[in-house]
Amino acid sequence: MPQTLLLTGASSGIGKATALLFAERGWSVVATMRTPSKAGAWAARPNVHVLPLDVTDPESIRAAVAETVRRFGAIDALVNNAGYGMVGAFEASTSSQVLRQFATNVFGLMDLTREVLPHLRERRKGVVVNVASMGGRITFPLYSVYHATKWAVEGFSEALCYELEPFGVTVKIVEPGPIRTDFYDRSMDLVTKAGLTAYDAFAAKAMPNMQKAGATAPGPEVVAKVIWNAVTDGSRRIRYQANSAPILALRRLLPDRLFMAVVKAAVLR
Ligand SMILES: NC(=O)c1ccc[n+]([C@@H]2O[C@H](COP(=O)([O-])OP(=O)(O)OC[C@H]3O[C@@H](n4cnc5c(N)ncnc54)[C@H](OP(=O)(O)O)[C@@H]3O)[C@@H](O)[C@H]2O)c1
Repeated sequence: MPQTLLLTGASSGIGKATALLFAERGWSVVATMRTPSKAGAWAARPNVHVLPLDVTDPESIRAAVAETVRRFGAIDALVNNAGYGMVGAFEASTSSQVLRQFATNVFGLMDLTREVLPHLRERRKGVVVNVASMGGRITFPLYSVYHATKWAVEGFSEALCYELEPFGVTVKIVEPGPIRTDFYDRSMDLVTKAGLTAYDAFAAKAMPNMQKAGATAPGPEVVAKVIWNAVTDGSRRIRYQANSAPILALRRLLPDRLFMAVVKAAVLR
């Protein structure tokens, strides 16, 4: 009997690469996305089932989980991948932009997890993988609200491990570094405020360097393999890196200000 993966944000990037890898390796894949018409030819595989799911829409969460359980009988792994980056000076942001960033990257992930948990707990097995970021443990200029969401995902996920462990359910955190996807392009919410020019020189220096890191980064298949390991290795390991291990190791070694000086030297050069 194939195992079943429920995955968010499967229309592009890491989500699409993960859906493909699990499908190739024989899993039944419920590839959810906001706009199912965006799914390409790959989604026509017999073991891929596309469902609509917007993580900010509680009704679509309920419907997708109910349909997955009805069709496949069980969920073996949930991968919370949907997310995007809000980028710009915090002073330029609006409250509704911040709310939308949290609604997608944090509250949507929590709402879907809550909906899936009874199905994992009752079977006393299952894995939840939350795609956080190396940006859930370190920070870069102009990404303050994005970092706040990913640091929230890190804390939420680690704490959840305690209460789910007695039920045989594991929670894992995947922490990608820069990965070449639409994250740096059409998915980005670039924050600006009319008349606010004080941050322009800073942003003009920092943005091209950070964009370049994305453009020259490895593709999303690297993260898909790490997610595969997280789901299938049977271990109690919590955190998995993907193109992020060296910088996170440096973060553990250096005091705050020294590490930030390294980031500044790289980003504001
Ligand atoms: N790329 C990187 O460098 C990087 C690094 C660290 C972490 N990450 C994380 O990796 C995850 C995937 O990003 P990616 O790099 O693969 O970027 P991507 O290609 O832009 O993919 C983002 C996915 O999230 C979906 N999404 C956005 N809002 C949604 C919502 N409300 N409900 C459901 N789906 C929604 C998008 O759907 P639409 O097609 O409908 O827009 C898309 O499928 C994100 O959580 C991101 O924070 C990325």
